[in-house]
Order: sequence, then structure tokens, then C-alpha cells
Amino acid sequence: MKILVVGSGGREHALAWRLARSRRVQVVYVAPGNGGTAREPNLMNVPITDLNTLAAFAEREKVAFTVVGPEAPLAAGIVDLFRARGLRIFGPTQRAAQLESSKDFAKAFMKRHRIPTADYETFTDPAAAHAYVERRGAPIVVKADGLAAGKGVVVAATAQEAHAAIDAMLVDNRIGEAGARVVIEDHLQGEEASFIVMVDGHHILPLASSQDHKRLHDDDQGPNTGGMGAYSPAPVVTPAIHARVLREIIKPAVEGMAADGIPYTGFLYAGLMIDAEGHPRTLEFNCRMGDPETQPIMVRVKNDFVEVMEHALAGTLDRAAIDWDRRTALGVVLAAEGYPESPRRGDEIVGLPAGGSAIDEDCFVFHAGTAVDGARTLTAGGRVLCVTALGDSVKMARTRAYRAIDSIRFEGMHYRRDIGHRAIGRGPAR
Ligand SMILES: Nc1ncnc2c1ncn2[C@@H]1O[C@H](COP(=O)(O)OP(=O)(O)O)[C@@H](O)[C@H]1O
Ligand SMILES: [Mg+2]
Repeated sequence: MKILVVGSGGREHALAWRLARSRRVQVVYVAPGNGGTAREPNLMNVPITDLNTLAAFAEREKVAFTVVGPEAPLAAGIVDLFRARGLRIFGPTQRAAQLESSKDFAKAFMKRHRIPTADYETFTDPAAAHAYVERRGAPIVVKADGLAAGKGVVVAATAQEAHAAIDAMLVDNRIGEAGARVVIEDHLQGEEASFIVMVDGHHILPLASSQDHKRLHDDDQGPNTGGMGAYSPAPVVTPAIHARVLREIIKPAVEGMAADGIPYTGFLYAGLMIDAEGHPRTLEFNCRMGDPETQPIMVRVKNDFVEVMEHALAGTLDRAAIDWDRRTALGVVLAAEGYPESPRRGDEIVGLPAGGSAIDEDCFVFHAGTAVDGARTLTAGGRVLCVTALGDSVKMARTRAYRAIDSIRFEGMHYRRDIGHRAIGRGPAR
């Protein structure tokens, strides 16, 4: 069979790679893909980003089903468009994708369905927003309502910072339409984790837990990024917390969407803040898998992921199971000079494994911002590669990943040296 994966990042490389391991798969098309998906066995890049053209391609190639990686095509309605043409696709409809594409929608939804999250209010009027900040005090969090590629949230330590964020978004229009409305919410303490599930409209299949590292520098310093590394499982998600997240957040979300007449299908990602007492609260929903969380999660899948996807598409996820590798997987992002502000492109990458992502059976180099240039591979974006390794412990996975990185080089390459630091010292991961 043929499968289509939409997107061009490390998440899509890992997902397409996993799907291509199924014996039933002839080819996984990746649209538009990257330098890594271009060279991976059984993967083929398709240089199409226009959604109608993509649907026509899926029809013509008799693609069995399509999986969408990033949020932008989901928010643009790719699922509605494919379904209207009778094409099977895994992801939320445009209306359901509002869980991610509008923070105000998500907060109102959570409030309505009593899903634990920070108290908030939504504003378009700057004076009212400023007054709210004065009333609540700092620390406080100001969030652009719309999609802002990770640049829409200001965690303000002081009221002054919050006021500046309000003015930047509502008055100076600094992030455009996405910031024309802001959600202002209480600051939550704790440790973050990513909880990702598959949903077929009604049934829920949880993926393994994971944790990413958003800040650019070691010790969680520096600016926020798309994510500098991740590992799975995340020991902060104990079995007790896992059960609570499913019961208090994920189930009410899926049932709430169905009750509201917007049944949810696709990957559903809850960004969690888990406080010292183990209470999980929802920071946000994403309507897709995380990047880089997907990379460690996918290398831990041991069974045929195509079968799981077929259950998800057929509405029979209650009959699906994922056989998880019991080991820890850890991925380190190698970023380009200037990332995240203004990454430099066009540097040659040397030391990549020949013939695909695999260094060996427990270590993989997934590509993100890369492009093929004849026999060479060049950097073509801010997050360039994600080196992902399996190990019997977080420490062992980490040692392996960093050892693999030692042989990879490009001008300006930088990465965090402390991926997994929160898990190390917590004891054995499950
Ligand atoms: N209420 C909050 N309290 C404390 N930190 C928060 C809160 N909301 C968001 N953050 C921090 O800001 C980051 C980004 O916020 P999030 O809601 O995930 O938006 P996005 O991923 O769309 O930028 C979170 O990962 C978290 O570190
Ligand atoms: Mg987030």
C-alpha cells in the first residue's frame, strides 16, 4: 500500500520511517519532506504543499490513507477537504483543530467541560486586559489566541512584562492576526510533560509519555524554541498521574468534543503542568503530535503502526494496541547557527549515516531542516537534525545519542548537552 505523510519536519521523518517499516507498505510519500526523507528507503518526497493539489495526488496515486504532521494544514481544513473527496485521512477537522488554533476556544471548552486548567479571561480591548493584569498581579501568562509558531506566549514574571506583552499583541499588532485576541491566565507551578493520544472520534489510545526541552540553552536558560530535545517515557508521568490525566483531561476532552457536535479524530496532545502534589493541569491542547517528542516515541513502537492507524481510521481504536519498547528513547536536536531568531542555511552536513536514518538498530538521525544537494546534504532550517537513541536507562540512551552526535558536523551546529536532565535522578523510568 501507499501512504502519504504531510509535513517536512523531524516529526514527519520519524512517523514516515515508522510506517514504512510495515511489510504491507510499498512507499510512504512525504509532502514536501526534507533531505532525510529524500534518502530514506521506501520514502519518497512529493514537492506539493497546496492542499487541493495534494488531494488530487492522493487520489491519482491511490494512497491508502494520509497522516498530517503539522498544525497549519489542519487549521486550514485539509481533513475536511480530503474527506469531501472520499479520501481517508487521520487528523482533526478544521472545527476540531480549533482546540489548538484558538486558545480562547480551548479555554472556553475546558471551562465548559470542567477540565483542569488555569483560570483565565480573553480580551481584545487593551485597557480591559491591562486592568485584568492589575487585578490578578504577577506572575501571569499572556497568550496570543491564534497560531503563532511558539512565539505567542509570554510568561510574565512582573506586571510590567505582562503589560508590554499586551501592548505588543493588541496595540502594536506585533504577531499579526494571531495576537488580535489574547488569553490571560494564571501562572501554574510544576513540571511539564506531554501526553499524546490517538482518537477515532470516541475511543482513545494513549501513546507513551514524553517530555521535551523548550529552552535554547542548558539548564533551561535562553529563549523558547520549537524544542531542543525529548525523551520517552517521562518518569514524571507516574502510573497514578497517567490514570488521572486520562480520567480528568483526555476523556472529558474527547467526550466533550463529541457532545459539542465536533467529534475529535487525530492525534491529541495535552501539554501538562504537574504540580508538586501530582495534580495535572492543562496548559494547552495541540491537535497533532509534538516535535521532537514524536521521534523518541516512534522509535519505541515495536508493532506494525499501519495496523494501529487503520484502527484509528475505522473507529476501532478500542481494538488496537501498541507494543512499546520498554527502554527509554532520547532525542537531541542539532540546531543551526542563529536558531531560533534567524537560522543560517546552506551549510554542508557531514558524518550522516549512509542510506537512511539508521546509525544502528538502536540509534537514528531524523532530519528536519535539511535539503539534498546532489550527493551532499545541506542545512535548510533552524532545527536541522534530531539524533535519537534507545537505551536501558535515560542515561544510557543519552550517552548513546551524544556519542552518535560526535561524528556529525556542520558549521554553526549547536545543541543542548543536558537533554533528559529531569529524568536522571528520578530513578528508573517505566
Ligand atoms: N499558565 C501557565 N503557567 C506557567 N507556564 C505556562 C503557562 N502557560 C504556558 N506556560 C509556558 O509557556 C509555554 C508555551 O505555552 P503553550 O500554552 O504551550 O503555548 P504554545 O505551545 O502555543 O506556545 C509552555 O510550554 C509553558 O512552559
Ligand atoms: Mg506548547
